[in-house]
Amino acid sequence: MPSDAARRSIIIDTDPGQDDAVAILLALGSPELDVLGITAVAGNVPLHLTEKNARKICELAGRPDIAVYAGADRPMERDLVTAEHVHGKTGLDGPDLPEPAMKLQDRHAVDFIAETIMSRPAGEVTLCALGPLTNIALALRKEPAIAGRIRELVMMGGGCFEGGNVTPTAEFNIYVDPQAAQLVLRSGIPTTIMPLDCTHKALTSAERTAAIRALGTPVAQATAQLLDFFERFDEEKYGTDGGPLHDPTVIAWLLKPELFSGRTVNVEVETGSELTMGMTVVDWWRVTEREPNALFVRDIDADGFFKLLTERLAVL
Ligand code: RIB
Ligand code: CA
Repeated sequence: MPSDAARRSIIIDTDPGQDDAVAILLALGSPELDVLGITAVAGNVPLHLTEKNARKICELAGRPDIAVYAGADRPMERDLVTAEHVHGKTGLDGPDLPEPAMKLQDRHAVDFIAETIMSRPAGEVTLCALGPLTNIALALRKEPAIAGRIRELVMMGGGCFEGGNVTPTAEFNIYVDPQAAQLVLRSGIPTTIMPLDCTHKALTSAERTAAIRALGTPVAQATAQLLDFFERFDEEKYGTDGGPLHDPTVIAWLLKPELFSGRTVNVEVETGSELTMGMTVVDWWRVTEREPNALFVRDIDADGFFKLLTERLAVL
């Protein structure tokens, strides 16, 4: 077990979602990471389900001690758009997980994020954003000083050469709350983005899911059931064998950054045109004078990623 000083303190902001669930399990199976708390946001499904799903996953991992907070139940300005057609009506279709016994924290997620970052040494806390960025944006509005104290924001969202997955130009997390994404990307927080250009290369497969199922534990069985359900939508849409395992790439970046490569560029968000609303406009070829504001990850060692995931799930 790494020393406390060596462990990386993280807050996971999430909208579970099967892929969010696998990301949370990866984090809880990794001793290098100290999960300070999990904050739920409306996204894949409404907030009352994302917060419950986060608690279900903590209990599945044997970690009812993890503090789970509920945050924003809608985007900053736009109406909530959800994705039950992808994740099922519960948001966690696949395994039959019991109703959680662990309690939801009373404090609002946005207060938890802001107060945790302000109360800890500057540069200590890493934010892992797996859903729409509403909670992060509201925390920045509540306490702008957090921007200079966050070690790194690692977020799943956006796309460039890969286009969008909810409209031709927009990826879901950014599309749901483009104003939040724009505010966060302009905040100056050191930011790493795992976009569709990366996650669409991290495809599940019968072999990869079988390797997880073969671990033979309740966590492994539930994870395989999550993946079996989750991948069906993208398999049909893209005609691929398997679906992109988006959110766990955020956690894998913290554990093995050598699995990834990208470029530090400027990323802006479309918030004016309904046609391209939520598009991440990525200056990959540096043709503008806009300041680079994010590491935009384009490539992943998919075999190495699934090997890491399977190894870490085995310890839960
Ligand atoms: O576009 C993929 C993202 O949207 C993932 O985070 C998935 O969980 C959904 O939130
Ligand atoms: Ca998500």
